[in-house]
Amino acid sequence: MHILAFSGQKGGTGKTTLALNVAGYFQKVKSMNVHIIDKDAQGGASRIFNNEQEPHFVTFDNINTPLKAMLETCKQQKADMVIIDTPPSIGGAFTQIHEFADLIILPCKPSRVDLQSTYYAIEDLRERNTTAIYAIALTQVEKGRVMMTDIINTIDSLKIPRFETFIAKREVYVRAYSSSHTVYNCPMSYKGVIDARFEIGYFCAEIEQVLKIDNKSGKKK
Ligand SMILES: Nc1ncnc2c1ncn2[C@@H]1O[C@H](COP(=O)(O)OP(=O)(O)O)[C@@H](O)[C@H]1O
Ligand SMILES: [Mg+2]
Repeated sequence: MHILAFSGQKGGTGKTTLALNVAGYFQKVKSMNVHIIDKDAQGGASRIFNNEQEPHFVTFDNINTPLKAMLETCKQQKADMVIIDTPPSIGGAFTQIHEFADLIILPCKPSRVDLQSTYYAIEDLRERNTTAIYAIALTQVEKGRVMMTDIINTIDSLKIPRFETFIAKREVYVRAYSSSHTVYNCPMSYKGVIDARFEIGYFCAEIEQVLKIDNKSGKKK
């Protein structure tokens, strides 16, 4: 069972949106049994998928249940992958999550302020001497944004692992999210859906590499 966590100190970076689309990829493209744990009291993830639309997603929205117990339930239900969405914080839930996650994904918008805030989360991880693997994912990236080179150079000079694939700012992510879909099951008439699927596919291929998932069978290598 692979465990992915989407974390960070800041709200509005795209954690929930990315978490759900990554879940959509592993479920629809890799036919995995994907479980989502919503540790955010705002409950974006479970509000969207705690319905009849996606029987393959299993969501837990009781933020008071200990993570360990939730993961045990996922195991019993033979989950291949568990995706944990977290509140914008580096205390509490975040600390617990390090102990369990195989990979911590830190979504970050390409701005100095956002990077600074993500850096606090990374310092926190480093100070704890955790063995957790983590990486920044640049999200809501706009075409031709002049700050991008500067942000990338800063991330690299600080030796922070990052995803090569950037998640672009696309209307389709907002539309899919607000109609309780991922880009894998939203109407094909939504503009930009194919581009978004490619993007999430490339992003997930990087996850597969880190987690050593065989990209044909979807199982552990
Ligand atoms: N790649 C993207 N392109 C365009 N809008 C996005 C993208 N990712 C997130 N958003 C929008 O930004 C807002 C915050 O996203 P959300 O996933 O809820 O962030 P978080 O979980 O970090 O608070 C939402 O309105 C969402 O629709
Ligand atoms: Mg969220």
